[in-house]
Amino acid sequence: MESSGSLPLKNTSTAKAPDSQGIGAELPSIFHPIGHISLNPVSKLLDIPDRQAEIGSFYISRLIHGQGLGKATIIELERIAGLEPISAKFLTLWAIANDMPNKEPLYEMLGLPAPFPTESWYKKRGFTVDKYVDEPEHRVTKDVTYPCRWVYMSKPTGVDSTA
Ligand SMILES: CC(C)(COP(=O)(O)OP(=O)(O)OC[C@H]1O[C@@H](n2cnc3c(N)ncnc32)[C@H](O)[C@@H]1OP(=O)(O)O)[C@@H](O)C(=O)NCCC(=O)NCCS
Repeated sequence: MESSGSLPLKNTSTAKAPDSQGIGAELPSIFHPIGHISLNPVSKLLDIPDRQAEIGSFYISRLIHGQGLGKATIIELERIAGLEPISAKFLTLWAIANDMPNKEPLYEMLGLPAPFPTESWYKKRGFTVDKYVDEPEHRVTKDVTYPCRWVYMSKPTGVDSTA
C-alpha cells in the first residue's frame, strides 16, 4: 500500500499487548488508523422502552473501502451489543439521509469525496428506517451551519430485554 491515507496518531494508551512469548510488549507509540467505531450502551435515540445501544463515529479508511471491513465491524458490534452487560434489544444509529438535498456542496466544503449512500448501506445490513429528521442549522464546523436531513435507523439484536 503506497500510503495509509491517514495521519499518524500518537498512542496515548497505557495498555500493553501480549507478545508472542506472552510476556507483554509495548504498543507502538504512533499508528495509522484504518477506521473507528464506538458503541453507546445506554442510548435513548429511539423513543421506545426497550434497551438500545447506539453506533457512533463509524468510518473506514477510504483506501480500504469495499473490502468487507465495514460489514465485518457491524456484524461484530451487533454481537457485542446483544451480550451482557449491554444486552440491548436494538442497535440504533443516525446518519445522513440518502435524499438530503444539496449534499454535494457540503461534502466539497469539508474536502470529502462524493457522498456515499450510507442509508442504503445500512439497509443492506438489515437496518430499517425509524424516522427522518430535518435540522435546518446543523453545526458542521465552528463557523458554519448547514441544513441537514438525518435518518434514524435500528436493527434488533435478537435479545429479548427491556430497559
Ligand atoms: C459506510 C462505510 C463504513 C462502509 O465501509 P466499507 O468497509 O467500505 O464497507 P464494506 O466493504 O464492508 O461493504 C461491503 C458491502 O456494502 C455493499 N455496498 C457497496 N456499495 C453500496 C451501496 N452504494 N449501497 C448499498 N450497499 C453497498 C456491498 O454490496 C457489500 O455488501 P455484501 O457483502 O452483502 O454484498 C464506509 O463507506 C465509510 O466509512 N463511509 C464514510 C463514513 C460513513 O458514512 N459512516 C457511517 C456513518 S453512520
